[in-house]
Amino acid sequence: MNTELAEKIFNDQQIWDDCAVHYEHQIVDGHPDIRNYEQVEERFLDQLLLYLAAKQNRPIKLMDIGCGSGRLHLWYGTMIKEITQQSLFKEVDYKPLLAERLKEIWGIDFSEKMLQLARRKLAQAGLKPGPQLTLRRGSAFDLKPESETILPVAICLVNSIGVMQGPAGARKLFEALRRVVESAGGIAIISCFQQEYVEKYALGQYESTLDVSGQPRWLKPETYASPRFVQKARKYKLAGDQNDQLLVDVFDLTGMLVNKGHKLKRDPKLVQQVIQTGDIRTFQDYHSQWYSYELMEEWMRTHWDKSGVHFRTSELDSEKAEHGQFICYDPSGLLKSFLNHNYSI
Ligand SMILES: C[S@@+](CC[C@H](N)C(=O)[O-])C[C@H]1O[C@@H](n2cnc3c(N)ncnc32)[C@H](O)[C@@H]1O
Repeated sequence: MNTELAEKIFNDQQIWDDCAVHYEHQIVDGHPDIRNYEQVEERFLDQLLLYLAAKQNRPIKLMDIGCGSGRLHLWYGTMIKEITQQSLFKEVDYKPLLAERLKEIWGIDFSEKMLQLARRKLAQAGLKPGPQLTLRRGSAFDLKPESETILPVAICLVNSIGVMQGPAGARKLFEALRRVVESAGGIAIISCFQQEYVEKYALGQYESTLDVSGQPRWLKPETYASPRFVQKARKYKLAGDQNDQLLVDVFDLTGMLVNKGHKLKRDPKLVQQVIQTGDIRTFQDYHSQWYSYELMEEWMRTHWDKSGVHFRTSELDSEKAEHGQFICYDPSGLLKSFLNHNYSI
């Protein structure tokens, strides 16, 4: 691995450890546009796993790459275990077919703080990590091939590829996903946002959640942009919000209010750069990349050859997932037959 990528991994690991608690609050359980997108991912996966459970005779291993705070462990853990305590996800039902066929929900993430949150959430829901629910600390790029005795379904969701160390990391992820499922004839799915929708979705999203990863670089002034302050947006900006101003309350690290109603404003030139490149950066060195549909198509062809399947998530749900794309590796055609069966894709 080149030094630049190794340094970026080291740096990003620190950033994710630092923002874990805020991420959980403001993103996983927070921004309505993100929650909408996550729901589309969850519904798609529910149907896919039930389809595979009914049609395949191998046990299924769901592998969540960049599993973060265990959203999917909680979701599917609740479906496959009759839990005694109250579930955090009240809308999730126990599913006997999945309980029988989904043998393991396996997750990997390089942030120990994210994994700690995942363990705590599982414990609160009455679900304990064990052979069926595993959480590993490690790199998304070091995945080993799975054995043919199981059917691996490897997923990398909610723009995780976009935060995996830029194009060099993205390429490593394509290779790792192929490696992990290829010989077992499994499926790999990357779900991420499209650069084409940066203006409509990303600007407001990152502004609304600037207490997670820092002040976006296109917002001025920089008075409170250092890690010595936490700035909280007064309200969410939803998709399409054109307002170039943002009102925040500023706190110091002890939680004391430093400035009430501090005004931030978009710099039009920097905003244009972000729209054109999809390169989103904050003053705290957080980096997220929204890749174009075209670039993902090219990477898919390069790394996965003819076994790639690519579609816009608007084909799954145009209302909730306008800005996303799924890039899938499907060497044995299992996903294709599911898509034909359920979505005419
Ligand atoms: C946007 S969050 C997504 C969390 C989760 N997939 C979900 O759907 O809720 C991205 C996660 O990827 C992890 N991550 C980023 N780069 C990674 C890498 N190279 N290896 C392992 N984990 C990584 C971060 O720590 C973070 O938890």
